[in-house]
Parts: sequence; C-alpha cells; structure tokens
Amino acid sequence: MNFFFKHDAELNPMPKEIIQRGAEAVLYREGDVLVKERVKKGYRLPELDDEIRRRRTKREAKLLETARRAGIHTPDADIADKHVIRMDFIDGNRVKDMLNGMKGPDQKKAAVKIGEMVAALHSANIIHGDLTTSNMILKGNDLYVIDFGLGKVSHKVEDKATDLFLLYEAILSTHFEISEAVWKNIINTYMQKYSTAAQVMQRFESIGKRRRYK
Ligand SMILES: Nc1ncnc2c1ncn2[C@@H]1O[C@H](COP(=O)(O)OP(=O)(O)OP(=O)(O)O)[C@@H](O)[C@H]1O
Ligand SMILES: [Mg+2]
Repeated sequence: MNFFFKHDAELNPMPKEIIQRGAEAVLYREGDVLVKERVKKGYRLPELDDEIRRRRTKREAKLLETARRAGIHTPDADIADKHVIRMDFIDGNRVKDMLNGMKGPDQKKAAVKIGEMVAALHSANIIHGDLTTSNMILKGNDLYVIDFGLGKVSHKVEDKATDLFLLYEAILSTHFEISEAVWKNIINTYMQKYSTAAQVMQRFESIGKRRRYK
C-alpha cells in the first residue's frame, strides 16, 4: 500500500454504526465486523474494573471458539485489545424480537433450534451464563448464540440446571403468551439431544421448588 493511499484510508475510515450502548459494553458495526468494547464502570475500583473487563473479554472470545468447535453457530471472534473483541457481524434477527410474532410452525422450529443449541452447549460442558433470547440471532435457518462473557466450562449438573433455569425465566418474562408451547418444545428437544438431560431436568425441578418456598 503506498503512503498516499494509506493516508487517504485513514482520512476516510469505515463508518462506525453504534449498535448498542449497553450496561457493560459498547457495540458497533464496521461493515462485516462487530466490535464489542467493554467499558469502564465508575463504581468499581479501577484495578478491579480493569481485571473484570479483561477476564470477561478473554472468557467470551474463548467460549465463542469452544462452542464453534462443538458445532454450534457462533460468530468467528478475536481479541483486538484486552477489553475489545472483534467478531463477525451476524446479519439476522434477534430471537427476542421475532419469537412472539412468529406463526405457530415457525415458532416451533425456532424453539426446537433453541433446544438443540442448549443440548449441544451442555453436551460440550459449556455453561452459557446468560441464556436469554436477546443473545440468540436467527439468520436464515441457523441459530447463532452470542454473549458468553458470563460463561464457563463445567460438567456439573447444578450449573447446567441453573443455565436452563435462567432460560426458563427469560422465556416466561419476555414471551409470556407463548411461553408454555415454546418451553415444551425447547425441553422436548433438549431431552432428545442431550444424553444427561434427565438428571439436569430433575435438578431444574428442585431449583424451581427452592425458589417457590423461599
Ligand atoms: N456478532 C454479532 N452480530 C450481530 N449482532 C450482534 C453481535 N453481537 C452482538 N450483537 C447485538 O448487540 C446486542 C448486545 O450484544 P451482547 O449481548 O454481546 O452485549 P451485552 O453488553 O452483553 O448486552 P446485553 O446486556 O443486552 O446482553 C445483541 O443483543 C445483538 O443485538
Ligand atoms: Mg446480551
């Protein structure tokens, strides 16, 4: 690249479009790339804040990769800086925005895909940590999962049941009208596709009881 051309490119950088300025991160799009930058939290001690952001960034990039190796659709991602991940921009629709308006058969298809995705995660001992429908993107027939910053690798039944309980609460609160049918399809699929699902479901039930009697 010659000097003048480079200079020109610097004067006209790829336009940045802010996607979301969330509680934890600023996300912007540069063409096919999504940049997720974890921002400073004033209420944390600076050293601790830096460490938390660094840890979540690392964890997220690593788990996106681990999940992808297990055959789950996730954006290809790299750490660009200690608090910054660059990943593929998934040009689809958030399940959160789609599910309630879907026709019955499409809704069932989406729920089955969610069940398959969680079964695949848990089969690979990946705990997502924030399984909500805003962290799932439908692109054509593929269901992508994102936002692994609170995730971990664990084989524990308790961790998997907790992961699932979070999803249950998310479905109940965001998709109340359709939650019964959607949840049934998610769980039926999860039970079919994940060999240890029965144990997880048993623990799931006792988490429900614990919550109710508190
Ligand atoms: N790779 C991607 N491709 C397309 N959209 C994305 C991608 N990553 C994130 N988004 C969009 O940005 C939103 C926020 O991303 P993400 O969940 O990773 O950040 P967050 O700070 O944890 O936000 P939240 O607190 O809302 O979960 C997603 O709900 C999604 O709409
Ligand atoms: Mg999110």
